[in-house]
Amino acid sequence: MTLAGMTLDSLEDVARAMVAEGKGILAADESTGTIGKRFASIDVESTEENRRAYRQLLFTTADAEHFISGVILFDETARQSDAGGQSFVDLLSSKGILPGIKVDRGAKPLAGAPGETVTEGLDGLRERLGEYRGMGCRFAKWRAVIDIDEATGKPSDYCLDANAHALARYAALCVEADIVPIVEPEVLMDGPHDIATCDRVTERTLQRVFAALYDQRVPFEQIILKPNMVISGAKCAQQASAEEVADRTVGCFRRTVPAAVPGIVFLSGGQSDVQATANLNAINARFDDLPWQVSFSYGRALQAPALKSWRGAQANVEAAQAAYFQRAKMNGKARTGSWSAAME
Ligand code: 13P
Repeated sequence: MTLAGMTLDSLEDVARAMVAEGKGILAADESTGTIGKRFASIDVESTEENRRAYRQLLFTTADAEHFISGVILFDETARQSDAGGQSFVDLLSSKGILPGIKVDRGAKPLAGAPGETVTEGLDGLRERLGEYRGMGCRFAKWRAVIDIDEATGKPSDYCLDANAHALARYAALCVEADIVPIVEPEVLMDGPHDIATCDRVTERTLQRVFAALYDQRVPFEQIILKPNMVISGAKCAQQASAEEVADRTVGCFRRTVPAAVPGIVFLSGGQSDVQATANLNAINARFDDLPWQVSFSYGRALQAPALKSWRGAQANVEAAQAAYFQRAKMNGKARTGSWSAAME
């Protein structure tokens, strides 16, 4: 099977296309609650039509496909169409952009572990994946949320294991359904912890995630990992440089991520848009011998300037598309370590 000239006969083919040279993934899968918060920040009412119009703006941005390999959609968006009546899934596919789907149902309190969460959504997942594959979705996403709080000993091993088990069950079902799973264990950057703490917690998390994937017979060649970078907590007084983020992130992944995994796509997780680009660039500039493609799957860091330009007005669509295109292009450069601050 081909999509805009790409051969996509196997899950390995799809996974490699997701991390094709110079390209990364747009996370546009904000749930109705989350997009409501983003719209509130620009004084736009979160109606179904406004959500559709905003996603249309992103997906019809000319030439974004030079830097964007795939888009993660929320269920509502996967069922919506552009103004001309073409479904977003078909519109993206026609541009050679792979449509993906968020299938988790959010992080919920973990029984017996106050303040910790486990991600839900496994019940009925086989049937939902079957429907999404029939609609044309080629990959999926499931996000586990790991919070650091040194004062209360978070994260517990129990929380890490519960989330790793769920991520692996999800991934195994995706492979069965001919869908590439994006496996996303996010260690949050909220809080005052330092980068060494993030490094240790990210290592513990990834070690358990890959053990669970192995136990549940998920072929590493058929997944994409979506982790946090190893980075200072947002409220830490000592903020690590892009070079230290790069070195610690790569060191952590070398200890935990099998070489068979085709690609690692970072979440931005609250980094500013330019910081997320600079850190990705530093990784690719400092290391040219990594076993995996190292790319991006940013939500906020790709969309924030576009949202600000748009503000819900049709007259601002062109400016918003230019802002989104610029972030996609800058991150495309960071894929090869050829970005510089002067390009901004
Ligand atoms: P951010 O890049 O805004 O963290 O979003 C990426 C994502 O998909 C989180 O699940």
